[in-house]
Amino acid sequence: MRYILGFSVFATTAAALVTQGRRAAPEFKHVFMFSIDGLHASDVPKYVAQRPDSNIASLLKTGIRYPNAFTSAPSDSFPGTVAQFTGALPVTTGIWYDDTFDRSFFNPETKCIGPPGAPISYDESIDFNATALFTSIDPADLPEAFLRGACTQIFPHERLRVNTIFELVRARGDVTTYTDKHPSYDVVRGPSGTGLTEGFFPEINAIPNTVPATIAYDTLHIEAFLNWTSGISILTGEKLPAIPTLMGGNFQAVSVAQKTSGYVNATGFPFTAPLLEALDFVDGFLGQFVSLLEERGIFEDSLLILASKHGQTPIDPNLFGEVAPALLMNLTGVPIAHATTDDIALIFLEDEADLDQAVANLNANREVLKIQEIIAGTQEFLARDFGNSKVDPAVPDIIVRPIKGIIYTTSHSKIAEHGGLSDDDRNVALIVSNPNFKAQTIEDFVETKQVAVTALQALGIDPELLEGAKDEGTTGLPGLF
Ligand SMILES: *[C@@H]1O[C@H](CO)[C@@H](O)[C@H](O)[C@H]1NC(C)=O
Ligand SMILES: *[C@@H]1O[C@H](CO)[C@@H](O)[C@H](O)[C@H]1NC(C)=O
Ligand SMILES: *[C@@H]1O[C@H](CO)[C@@H](O)[C@H](O)[C@H]1NC(C)=O
Ligand SMILES: *[C@@H]1O[C@H](CO)[C@@H](O)[C@H](O)[C@H]1NC(C)=O
Repeated sequence: MRYILGFSVFATTAAALVTQGRRAAPEFKHVFMFSIDGLHASDVPKYVAQRPDSNIASLLKTGIRYPNAFTSAPSDSFPGTVAQFTGALPVTTGIWYDDTFDRSFFNPETKCIGPPGAPISYDESIDFNATALFTSIDPADLPEAFLRGACTQIFPHERLRVNTIFELVRARGDVTTYTDKHPSYDVVRGPSGTGLTEGFFPEINAIPNTVPATIAYDTLHIEAFLNWTSGISILTGEKLPAIPTLMGGNFQAVSVAQKTSGYVNATGFPFTAPLLEALDFVDGFLGQFVSLLEERGIFEDSLLILASKHGQTPIDPNLFGEVAPALLMNLTGVPIAHATTDDIALIFLEDEADLDQAVANLNANREVLKIQEIIAGTQEFLARDFGNSKVDPAVPDIIVRPIKGIIYTTSHSKIAEHGGLSDDDRNVALIVSNPNFKAQTIEDFVETKQVAVTALQALGIDPELLEGAKDEGTTGLPGLF
């Protein structure tokens, strides 16, 4: 019901805008965007050196590589994804992390009664069944907030403050599809809820955290990519109205291999056997996908974008270390409403008046907490484009950046993580390829949020219609349009 209502409103306004803003001739009929989660910019030349006949090597022969591409900060998968489809960062989108906090939200099933301020976990915890492969979001598990004046269960896409490229492509009547690791990636549908013709979200929490199991899981995404590109629904097996104009999705196998086996030494090369296996697996899909595009006669009309939503830290296995999140929270020394912890900590205080005390306590414990940097205070946040915690209920009070390689966890089961601010997390693989391109390496500093604008340019849709990109002045990637 929610989706249908949203659509009629959106269709009128956005379709009219798209018609006004349409350019003369779109250069591409299809944009296909794949995130190899975890893949660093630095992994690409290493893989190609080891596998000169790989499909990635072949895509690069007619592709542009951006070795200085950076994903969002924080580099969690959720804001990393949102950046690529909105052209914007957490300060604009309100999406900081999958598991975070909002000072204006209420707990599930409270009818927005009681003091505001609630954790928001847009991960498996909102599923009907968090250990079932095929499940969906249980509205009863959603946090609540006032939306257009009414207390509402907030789906992930409704928390997003700006539109997505899926909404713009769909508004002109085209087919859009996306696949990712939890039903919560519903977020890419955008605030209208209408951005996807079809979304396919098998729950990764349903499978063991091993490379073989994750390869089997990624095979579900591959089936979706191949069937969609053959004009077939992955949900019903019926024909789609057309091959998607915009299709996106991700692979998890490389990320899991990095977290469980990783790299042999500080140079990041050679890859351990499981990591190489995961890379070969994704590379194999790329070959299959290109063959399908050729078979259907649409390869030349298609822009392929490989952009990883996050990297993984550390590459150098010697840097890895754990610090207990409970210790971090305890030594902050003041009441904490919520702390998101990975290789970063986002701290929301119960009382913002405690900020100076909390920062002083953290400073006094830098060594034991293995802290590299404490980011706090309106001026510092604004200067670094994180927004203002005093006026924006989604912005944390404190960001703790640990020394590279340190993870705030007690899991003892992983040797790397992402979400943080280090280059190993943020400097990700980014390749744009088409058979009519010349091989090129563009060394400019670029951000993965720029792919949103590039995708619209490729399809002849006015990027001015992308709200977050417009707010942040996000431009398309250099060297293309
Ligand atoms: C959740 O899914 C798992 C895996 O399919 C199943 O074993 C379990 O019984 C389900 N739980 C409920 C409450 O349905
Ligand atoms: C995907 O397409 C293949 C080949 O046409 C078919 O065998 C398979 O059943 C399809 N998958 C789904 C989920 O419809
Ligand atoms: C990394 O490992 C490779 C293979 O064992 C070795 O050739 C190389 O010298 C190592 N580099 C460093 C810095 O340890
Ligand atoms: C930190 O831990 C100590 C010792 O367990 C305890 O006495 C203290 O109350 C804790 N402080 C906070 C802020 O939780």
